[in-house]
Amino acid sequence: MDRILIRGGRPLRGTVQVRGAKNSALPLMAASILAEEACTLHNIPCLHDVFTMDKLLSSFGAKIEFTGRYMTIDASTLDNFVAHYDLVRKMRASFFVLGPMLARFQKARVSLPGGCAIGTRPVDIHLKGLEAMGANIAIEDGYVIAEGALKGVDFSLDFPSVGATENLLMAASRARGVTRLNNVAREPEIVDLAHFLNAMGAQISGAGTDLITIVGVDALGGTEHVVIPDRIETGTFLIAGMATGGDVTVQNANPDHLPTFLNKLRDAGGEVEVHGTRIRAAAKNGLKGVDITTQPFPGFPTDLQAQMMSMLCLAQGVSVMRESVFENRFMQVAELIRMGADIDLDGTAAIVRGVNGLSGAPVMASDLRASAALVVAGLSAAKGETSIARVYHIDRGYERIEERLASLGADIERVRD
Ligand code: EPZ
Repeated sequence: MDRILIRGGRPLRGTVQVRGAKNSALPLMAASILAEEACTLHNIPCLHDVFTMDKLLSSFGAKIEFTGRYMTIDASTLDNFVAHYDLVRKMRASFFVLGPMLARFQKARVSLPGGCAIGTRPVDIHLKGLEAMGANIAIEDGYVIAEGALKGVDFSLDFPSVGATENLLMAASRARGVTRLNNVAREPEIVDLAHFLNAMGAQISGAGTDLITIVGVDALGGTEHVVIPDRIETGTFLIAGMATGGDVTVQNANPDHLPTFLNKLRDAGGEVEVHGTRIRAAAKNGLKGVDITTQPFPGFPTDLQAQMMSMLCLAQGVSVMRESVFENRFMQVAELIRMGADIDLDGTAAIVRGVNGLSGAPVMASDLRASAALVVAGLSAAKGETSIARVYHIDRGYERIEERLASLGADIERVRD
């Protein structure tokens, strides 16, 4: 197992290129199941989760070529309709194959994804929506068995779930008739998926708002598509720059995907400049405590809560951070306290009191974004060395993070145990 070693206290300076969005690439790859012809995706990030989705689609019989950041997926003839537990348990996004598989083949058998470190992660909204569209859903031996022809329906989601919106959007694109999905997620990844499906011949309108209308079509063809930039990776690098007292510019980003987050960086003392697709952040006069509540888009992204907390550990004053999207997303707190942070947990809120500095320590990664938070903390720890174990959590969502941080001046290396 790899570890990452960081000797902190060095301000990060310079420019880094953001990669394609993991949380867009994964549903886009699943959506290719709907196409009767090959699809090509550009700007695909080189991440473990992408390799897992590649393996899953290949297990259905899809033919995939993945070189560099370019991927062609030919799902025109699939011969297996079972998504096995050993793949789905590794990556929850595997569940996104259910909607497209059912819509195109009227049958699918997908393992329930199970929980993970940040919560039980139920899929009840996904299943209720598919049942409303006419699917017969049964749960047997930990698998969802779905069958039946889908028809258009008016359906309101109990919560604007990103994954449920994506599954239902893909299913409705091939259902018979018109589907109106209400109270849907409005994340940029939903809009990216709708663009991709429409380019395949779907008839979707309203993506990015809380009501999406889909007129089902009989078949979808192949297309080419460029994956949007990763807004969470963008935010992670900007936070790392400010937390270390540096000055970092992220290139090829999309500032419209981070409205609330960029304002919160400014509230925390950041000078944030946006020039087209370049975003620069620096905190020359130190950091200030800010209150944050995570929300579905366009609110503050839950996927940047942990990294922001690491930065706010060093701010002047107190920050109250509330996690409203997941039930257990403060996994980073115990490890940050071991590094000298002053944080109290009170239910779904974390009270973060700024301290003068953090100290390096051996810490354990637990989930993707909590691990990124430990990297930020290690980079800003003025004293000592931070050793982060179970780095595979980070590799799921960040491409060669140690090389890219080193290019900004970090003293960081990956060691193989
Ligand atoms: C997506 O997960 C992202 N993953 C997550 O990013 C992200 O944190 C999350 O959306 C919220 O933005 C991918 O896109 C691959 P949800 P998803 O369904 O779809 C509850 C990362 O770090 N819920 O919007 O699983 C659920 O329990 C990952 O990149 C139900 O109750 O998130 C949670 O509390 C982590 N029933 C809330 O909704 C359901 O049927 C939000 O979940 C579905 C969800």
